[in-house]
Order: sequence, then structure tokens, then C-alpha cells
Amino acid sequence: MEINYQETSKDLLARIDIHEKYGSANIDQWTNDLLKPQAGMSILDVGCGAGKLSFLFNDYTKGGAKITGGDFSEELLAKAREKNKKLGAGINFQFLDFNKPFNFADNTFDLCTSAFAIYYASNLDFTFGEAHRVLRSPDAVLGKPGGRLFVSGPLPENKKMFYDIIKEATNKPIPPMPGSSRFKGDIFNTVSKIFAKTELHKFENHLTFPEVAPFIDYVRASLSEDRKLWTSMFNGHAEYEELIGKIEAVAKKWFARDGKLVMTKVVGGILATK
Ligand SMILES: C[S@@+](CC[C@H](N)C(=O)[O-])C[C@H]1O[C@@H](n2cnc3c(N)ncnc32)[C@H](O)[C@@H]1O
Repeated sequence: MEINYQETSKDLLARIDIHEKYGSANIDQWTNDLLKPQAGMSILDVGCGAGKLSFLFNDYTKGGAKITGGDFSEELLAKAREKNKKLGAGINFQFLDFNKPFNFADNTFDLCTSAFAIYYASNLDFTFGEAHRVLRSPDAVLGKPGGRLFVSGPLPENKKMFYDIIKEATNKPIPPMPGSSRFKGDIFNTVSKIFAKTELHKFENHLTFPEVAPFIDYVRASLSEDRKLWTSMFNGHAEYEELIGKIEAVAKKWFARDGKLVMTKVVGGILATK
């Protein structure tokens, strides 16, 4: 299955900012608590975007881990490199298409992560096979476990209120979201098949919008014309603006009724060991 998914740095960074401003919980803390990356580790962050997770691990290990961030978007890689330079961090950001063989030797990494990205892969067996290949094998002599894979993504109950408002506004079915529909099923099953041990963890974040405007900013950063997943709902700029207007009207109605808008992000974390 080929998935046409493109992200602009403007949209991605707008959503990250909204999560930080209005969220009740911190996904970075959850990720660090779960993974506890250590200085001396080799880490590969697949679909790193502007480098959110790579910078998180770099901070957590106080620059002591060898981190590689890979993405196929040159625009997002440029953002990541700019920040890397500004911070004087030593992260290596490079081109990586997760639908193609990863350009690394077998047994290279202690940890391979992918936040909200790798589940868009066209061929899950292939991509997770590559992640498995580049992770370190367990070392029975030294008693060292194998490298770990961590993949985060939306669970099916994610952002229910967001989809309900759009459904009410449009009377149309929501286009299939490959992330949430595949995460707990196909993706979890593929990883469990390939890796020795696989666990599913869950993270919930309630985003409380104190007014309608930041919710609409979130909607725009999700549906934007640059993201191909939503284009069945509109054709061109005028229809896009008309759609946003309808969504805003329903959001205002819900806000007047409830006094706030609360959207719960429900995120899964698949943690597997080679
Ligand atoms: C929602 S963003 C997440 C970015 C980052 N991991 C974060 O948490 O901010 C999804 C990322 O997947 C990347 N992506 C999509 N398809 C890809 C592919 N075939 N190979 C590599 N990266 C890809 C996009 O460019 C984008 O950076």
C-alpha cells in the first residue's frame, strides 16, 4: 500500500506548539521515562522531522549518545540541521526513506525510534525488517539484551472530539487515517512477528482549548492543503476555507454548550526488543 503523506514544517511545528501549550501531560517525559536513553548509546530516529525526538534524547543524555536522525523531507531536515547548529549539538541528520533499504550496517544501533512516522510505511514487513536488521543483536556472552525499537502513533480512540466535530460539520465520513487504523493491528502484529519481545504502552493527553481560535489553528495544521490525507474533503483553496468555516461554526456551538473544547490525544507506544 502506497501512502501519500507529506508534512510541512510549518504544520508540524504548529501542532507540536499547540500540544505543549494546551496539553495536560508531556509526551517527552513519557518517552524518556519509558526508554531511559543512556550516554554511549547509538540511536537512530526514523522519520525524525524537525528532530523533536533526536533533540530530546540529546538533552536527556547530555549530549552523550551518538544520535542519527533520518527523514525524506529535505525541508524538515534543514530545520533540524539549523537547530543542531544553533545548539552546537552533534546529531547527524541525514536523508532516509523508510520505504528503501536503510543505509546502515547490520547490528549498528542500541535504540531505533520513530514518532508518528514509520507507520506510514508502504510495506511494513520490509521497513520493520530494516529496523530489526540495523539494531544490535543480543550478546549471550556479555549477557546484553538486543537493541530496542520504539514506535509511537495514534490509537483508534485518538482525538475523537476532533473527528466528531468534522463529521458533524461535513456530514462526510472521515478519510481513512493510516496511522490510527493500522497502529494497534497491522503494525503491532508485524513488530511482534519480527522482534523477540513486544509491548504496547499508552499515553493520554487532554488538550483543553480555552477558546475556539487555537482549536481552529490545530484543525488548519492538520487539514492543511499540503497534507494529502485530507484532500478528499476539499478541492483547492476556496473549498478548503469553506470547510474550515463549517468546522469553526460547529466548534463554536460545542464551545457555547460546554464552555471549553477538550480533545484527548491517545497515543500508543510499541516497545520491542531484538
Ligand atoms: C508527523 S511527522 C513526525 C516527525 C517527528 N518524528 C516528530 O515527532 O516531530 C512524520 C514524519 O514522517 C516523515 N516521513 C513520511 N514518509 C517518510 C518516508 N517514506 N521516509 C522517511 N520519512 C518519512 C515526514 O517527512 C515527517 O517528518
